[in-house]
Amino acid sequence: MRALETSDRELVALMTEAMRLAGAYWTSLDERPSYPSTSGAETARLFDRPWMDEGRGGDVLNDFRAMAEHVRPCTGRFFGYVAGSGEPVGAVGDFLASVLNQNSTSWRSAPAAVTIERAVVGWLADAIGCDGFAGQLCGGGSMANLMALAIARETLSPANEDGARPGVVYASEHVHMSVPKAVALLGLGRSNLRLVPADADFRLRIDALEAAIDSDRRLGKMPLAIVANGGTVATGAVDPLRELADIAAAEGLWLHVDGAFGVPAAMAVPEKFAGLNRANSISLDAHKWLYQPIDCSCLLYRDRDAARKTFSHSGDYVRIFNEDPSETFAFFEESIELTRRFRALKLWMSLQYHGRNAYREAISRDLQHAQRLADAIQALPDLELLAPVPLSAVCFRHRTGNNEAILQRVVARGRVYLSNATIKGDFALRACFVNHRTRPEDVDEIVSEVMAAADEV
Ligand SMILES: Cc1ncc(COP(=O)(O)O)c(C=O)c1O
Repeated sequence: MRALETSDRELVALMTEAMRLAGAYWTSLDERPSYPSTSGAETARLFDRPWMDEGRGGDVLNDFRAMAEHVRPCTGRFFGYVAGSGEPVGAVGDFLASVLNQNSTSWRSAPAAVTIERAVVGWLADAIGCDGFAGQLCGGGSMANLMALAIARETLSPANEDGARPGVVYASEHVHMSVPKAVALLGLGRSNLRLVPADADFRLRIDALEAAIDSDRRLGKMPLAIVANGGTVATGAVDPLRELADIAAAEGLWLHVDGAFGVPAAMAVPEKFAGLNRANSISLDAHKWLYQPIDCSCLLYRDRDAARKTFSHSGDYVRIFNEDPSETFAFFEESIELTRRFRALKLWMSLQYHGRNAYREAISRDLQHAQRLADAIQALPDLELLAPVPLSAVCFRHRTGNNEAILQRVVARGRVYLSNATIKGDFALRACFVNHRTRPEDVDEIVSEVMAAADEV
């Protein structure tokens, strides 16, 4: 046999066993702890291994069994961060995408994959009320935010004599860390990010934004873009999008909505996102609140040509000879990436398999879970809700206990996983619902586990 070749018989055996392991893993999720009881030393002992000269064959699948005990399981009782649930049909799609091994960079290199990605992006735009937006899939919200601000800079900031494109970016003080990172990477300069104060509901204050823009103009600075939160990572606050769109239009600024966490909820509660369709660009993470396996984010933009102007750096090596516009289409002309995964297949399969209503219902259920938890917290004198709950993130604390110790104890008990946030300077316990597996009884365990942990610490 040639090097790297696998016989048909071996391959079938490998796939059959892999599928059996996957099925067993998915059906066992409910019994698994919400976080593995492991340590750095133990995972290093198991997985920090050399690459041997001789292969082990199908024995490698045994490692999967060990891995399954040492990963964060996507159980319906994991409520930390913004951790999507890895919908299984999407995982099957991801496997098949690897089988096809397409480079979704241009129609010529992957006709079906590119056509499917364009279709899926169109469905997502339409689902959130932004019909007609173009866009692309990418690895994550951080990448989507970076590309959005790169397009904003290219479009609105003419290069000065040094070739630099200066500009000030405005965002609420609760903006996700990926935005300061993008501003820094784009060379706009850390001092050109204005973190605008938010109101009591954690929404960007319009009066403060107007004052900041006014002050910058008077100092001779060039306002460039507003980044609005379509669901802040800590509390899910949605900035006043309509007012921000008005300001962006009046001031000639780019409006980007970072909806990596929250924007899928526009399918269920569109009224909370009024004005979204006036944005210039929007990021939306399908690997968060569309339950898809990592990685799968989407950047939408109103003006495809703006994206092209930013990223179209062609080379002879990728020259396209065709004339038909659908056949000359190339994602590499509007993206940082040249070689691109066939991310669209998991979305295609999962969205088509379940249908739009199932997604709308799953998101609505997550919103209800958050309200259920908020109600339970408010019904208990020992607990205190620390922020409004506009979407599916709930921040709260034990009034008298040591909340940091309580959090660690909750995680160690292994029934539910919570993460933390800082709310107006206070340490908060935080639960976020973006998991199609979560049931109401899982939500009820949050309060009982926090109370039990408080008794133990
Ligand atoms: C509001 C928001 N923006 C951006 C991001 C970054 O997304 P990613 O982790 O996919 O890069 C996150 C991640 O949680 C987020 O919640």
